[in-house]
Amino acid sequence: MDESKIKLLSVYTSPREDSLSGYSHRLLISKYFPDIKADEVFLSKTVIRPCSACSFCSTKDECSIEDIMNEYYKLIREADIITVSFPLYFSTVPAQLKLFIDRAQLFWEMKKRNEFIKNKTGIIIATAGNNYKDMFTCAENTMRHFFKTINAEYNKQYSVFIPSTDDYSAEKNRLRAENIINKSLFE
Ligand SMILES: Cc1cc2nc3c(=O)[nH]c(=O)nc-3n(C[C@H](O)[C@H](O)[C@H](O)COP(=O)(O)O)c2cc1C
Repeated sequence: MDESKIKLLSVYTSPREDSLSGYSHRLLISKYFPDIKADEVFLSKTVIRPCSACSFCSTKDECSIEDIMNEYYKLIREADIITVSFPLYFSTVPAQLKLFIDRAQLFWEMKKRNEFIKNKTGIIIATAGNNYKDMFTCAENTMRHFFKTINAEYNKQYSVFIPSTDDYSAEKNRLRAENIINKSLFE
């Protein structure tokens, strides 16, 4: 496929300037997709209203809430690849990402009506301060569910999970991220 035609949507969620998940996300794109210009969305800089469970999308391909999600719906529909980075919060995805995911109920309802959007690939970049058993499982399950809903096949091999960030300096964490990304690229 002509790389210039591939649409990449990159969803950043960390509220921190110089976040590790954001750094790792940009690095991953530069390594995996060097020739693709991404559409970038920064969820902590925007306000997404929560799904109101109004059932409007059970009959229409639209959401009753008028906010920035209308722009994001378009980007999701058009994307061939979606990359999502997040810091682990309370063992799951941060609230700003969960709002985005819940509003994908529109695509869940469409799927139920056998209306499908373009096939895609989904990739995760996740960071976490600590290291404990099954720490990413809850977030990964939520992301799998989201990817399935938007017709994205989850690419676990390209996805990266960076635990124990509390144990290292920012500089060392960036080096760790680079090693983990290089490793998943060549495995
Ligand atoms: C509200 C909040 C909740 C957090 N919850 C967890 C958690 O459940 N498990 C964990 O290992 N780290 C947790 N952390 C730490 C972050 O995941 C960690 O600092 C991460 O590296 C930040 O990534 P960033 O630089 O991309 O924002 C939490 C941090 C915050 C602010």
